[in-house]
Amino acid sequence: MNSILFAKILIDWWHKNKRDLPWKHTKDPYKIWVSEIILQQTRVDQGTPYYHRFIKRFPDVFVLAKASEDDVLKVWEGLGYYTRARNLHSTAKQIVKDNDGLFPENYEDIIKLKGIGPYSAAAISSFAFEGSHAVVDGNVTRMVTRILGIYDAVELPETKKSIQSYVSSAIQTVRPSSFNQALLDFGSQTCTPKDPGCAYCPFNLYCKAYHQNVVKILPIKRKKQPRKIRYFHYLDLSSVNQIILHQRSKNDIWKNLFELPMIETDSPTIENPESLLKHIDIILNDNNTTLVSCHKIYESTQLLTHQKINGYFYSISIAKISKKINPSHYLVERKKVSNFAFPKIITEYFRHLKKTDELLF
Ligand code: ADE
Repeated sequence: MNSILFAKILIDWWHKNKRDLPWKHTKDPYKIWVSEIILQQTRVDQGTPYYHRFIKRFPDVFVLAKASEDDVLKVWEGLGYYTRARNLHSTAKQIVKDNDGLFPENYEDIIKLKGIGPYSAAAISSFAFEGSHAVVDGNVTRMVTRILGIYDAVELPETKKSIQSYVSSAIQTVRPSSFNQALLDFGSQTCTPKDPGCAYCPFNLYCKAYHQNVVKILPIKRKKQPRKIRYFHYLDLSSVNQIILHQRSKNDIWKNLFELPMIETDSPTIENPESLLKHIDIILNDNNTTLVSCHKIYESTQLLTHQKINGYFYSISIAKISKKINPSHYLVERKKVSNFAFPKIITEYFRHLKKTDELLF
């Protein structure tokens, strides 16, 4: 079907079916930017409470630029993909410093900002400034491959180009913000991955996949790489009221988030208990720690896009905790742990402790 008809049918559908979403009530590029960054890797229902919390805590770019990174990560805690929060924060600082707090208005300037790719630049420039770049994400790719009957793998540059060029022509014929929002709403409500609503779809007269009975197999995707499996051994080094935390700093997952001191191994078990003692000595800045007891008390896993984290939690009692612990570690009162931002696997561990032993908190 030609792109003009596609745009017309889509917009007609949208006027009857649009979702009422909080970031649709504003043209403030700051709020739209925040919403788009949250929605990059998060579903609308999961992201909406975070959007409200974030805007309440950081209502404009000046407040965000002044905040500490730990505060920003704390508001983001549990949402995952923490680079998004760090990029938002550093970009806010840059916008305040270099541009008096004014958000850039056109696509070419918006895409230069950290953490903003073609998809987010198209969304922000259309929603805030009526720029006419079409958004293409997984949802849009799915509906276009189905409607046009595209059987090539969607990861191929040529496939991406032809989908992009089709929706780019379509957006020229209508109001850009409505078109982009309609694409997103349609892809997530009607042309869904499983059980799409073909019977009542406004494109069903034209949809090649529907007529060729291949809706379930399109889009064609290449095989995914298997996830890397990692084994993290977390050490709960605590006294009655205090616990030792570590702030992650390497260029790895969860950078700058807090965790329990940790040893990573290549297998689920710690082969060499000596290494555990050595690690505890390093954390405690003590070269002769007396280990009183060590029990594995909890296991959990966390799936990330490219990794599977297996976490093992050990409760460790030691004779005494020296005051001079290793600099990247913090001796923290147990009741204050909720002030720190942790990856989900750690908050789940604390929740588990709370359930099994109320006295600990
Ligand atoms: N996903 C990404 N951006 C979105 C938006 N503005 N509305 C709904 N879903 C989205």
